[in-house]
Amino acid sequence: MRDVSRRTFLGAGLLAGIGLGVGIPFSLGAGGSTSTGNLLRSRLTLPLPFTMPFRAPPVLHPVRSDAAADFYDISQSRADASILPGMKTEIWGYNGIFPGPTIVTRRGRPAVVRHTNNLPVPTVVHLHGGRTPHDSDGYPIDFIYPVDMSYMNQHMDTHGHETGMGAMVPGDTTIGQRSYRYPLDQRAATLWYHDHRMDFTGPSLWRGLAGFHLVRDDEEDTLGLPAGARELPIMITDRSFEATGNFLYPSTDPSLMATPGVTGSFVAGVLGDAMLVNGTPWPVAKIDGAKYRLRILNACNARRLDLRIDPQPDGGLTQIGTDGGLLAAPIRHEHFELAPAQRVDAIIDFAGYKPGTAVTLLNDFGEGNMSQIMRFIVGPKSRDTFTVPDRLATIEPLTAADAVTTRTFRFQSGDVNHTKGWLIDAQPFSPDNISAAVKLGTVEIWRLIADFHHPVHLHLNPFQVLSRGIGGPGAFDAGWKDTIDLRPAEEAAIAIRFEGYAGKYVFHCHNLEHEDMAMMANFITR
Ligand code: C2O
Ligand code: CU
Ligand code: CU
Repeated sequence: MRDVSRRTFLGAGLLAGIGLGVGIPFSLGAGGSTSTGNLLRSRLTLPLPFTMPFRAPPVLHPVRSDAAADFYDISQSRADASILPGMKTEIWGYNGIFPGPTIVTRRGRPAVVRHTNNLPVPTVVHLHGGRTPHDSDGYPIDFIYPVDMSYMNQHMDTHGHETGMGAMVPGDTTIGQRSYRYPLDQRAATLWYHDHRMDFTGPSLWRGLAGFHLVRDDEEDTLGLPAGARELPIMITDRSFEATGNFLYPSTDPSLMATPGVTGSFVAGVLGDAMLVNGTPWPVAKIDGAKYRLRILNACNARRLDLRIDPQPDGGLTQIGTDGGLLAAPIRHEHFELAPAQRVDAIIDFAGYKPGTAVTLLNDFGEGNMSQIMRFIVGPKSRDTFTVPDRLATIEPLTAADAVTTRTFRFQSGDVNHTKGWLIDAQPFSPDNISAAVKLGTVEIWRLIADFHHPVHLHLNPFQVLSRGIGGPGAFDAGWKDTIDLRPAEEAAIAIRFEGYAGKYVFHCHNLEHEDMAMMANFITR
């Protein structure tokens, strides 16, 4: 491939993609394939959109604070949640709720979060977007074993010895509890925490193990952004339900103890047919006629979203931030594409609507009810002195000239343990393979090449998108990202400044079915 021009290479990649596509289904939206995944239909009648009230997750308060840090306690536990009218859904939740409680911290103020595992299976907690030392980053085999080991013991006895947990050499594990220490010496941004257990992250998040972690700082405070009731966290997750009201997920091994992955065509990704916002299906929020800050997170396992506000507000969807915090300057969009794990921080001006107007957040990549996300009912015009500043933050642009090395990684489907799975450079994830050794304090270019949609995420450090194919960065690529939305047969170049902590970290596809089916690799920093 080396002597083929990039244009020819992209053409060949597209053909190869179509060839591989046999048996790898796409969800087909109006404009063609919009997500790599397969729709899983609920076995009950879903509620009508816009009938249930919007709610934001509660903010978690520290159990104690000292000069050095704030200390938080979270119990990971099973609970019956009221998600569908008149039914109970068993969830796995941080403090028994889905989403988990929101942690709010300030730049440079360390947080220590003690997690107790009251679930039946081992867990791992990762702070997504956090610049975190290795031992608190939630390395996929650094398990917190359950307080109560009976379920695990039973399932390891019956079939776990040759595959899965029984065969796996664990990493740095603890029993029952673990304290994660987050320095949080990083820009204000919308982070999130979620489970990261090797091979079983998809089903754990599907059951509810995800929450927001917001970092604030002085730079952001000077902007006077909408706050309090006018700052809305919006975690979007698609889900499917059993007839019982429980979540439906096509695990190959429903015990979640031995064999990873999902059945049949779901290996492409699991797409739900109910759109939840903060755990509520298609909610409706009553708001003032004023400007709001929406922190939108795509926490779907595999579904890509194309967000649009209808009717279009004055100024459109004004993007002020992305995964890694504020942009240098606001960008006005008519719509915004958001891949799994990505965040967009947006200002929406509701003051231009007549009181009583129903304003809908749409998903133009979805069909039927999946083309809708939530609704706002606009109240009377209300006092609002905020205007979006022309400059938001200082961002030093990285260029190819800053880089000391260029590496290339290919994200492609392939065989994993004799079944269909997903590979990086033809390798399935193994904790023992190191794909890159990088030097802290340097910038590298990574060329990422995809066969299908792969939202590629790096731990530890954010990056900037330099190019896509032979063109520049895309319309949704501005600022510091930690996840890039790679599309079928696409090649992109990102620039990463490695800094912070020495150790072993992962990068992976954040389509969680791809991640569980081995599309993950290690880099070490030193
Ligand atoms: Cu949000 Cu390694 O993941
Ligand atoms: Cu991460
Ligand atoms: Cu992928």
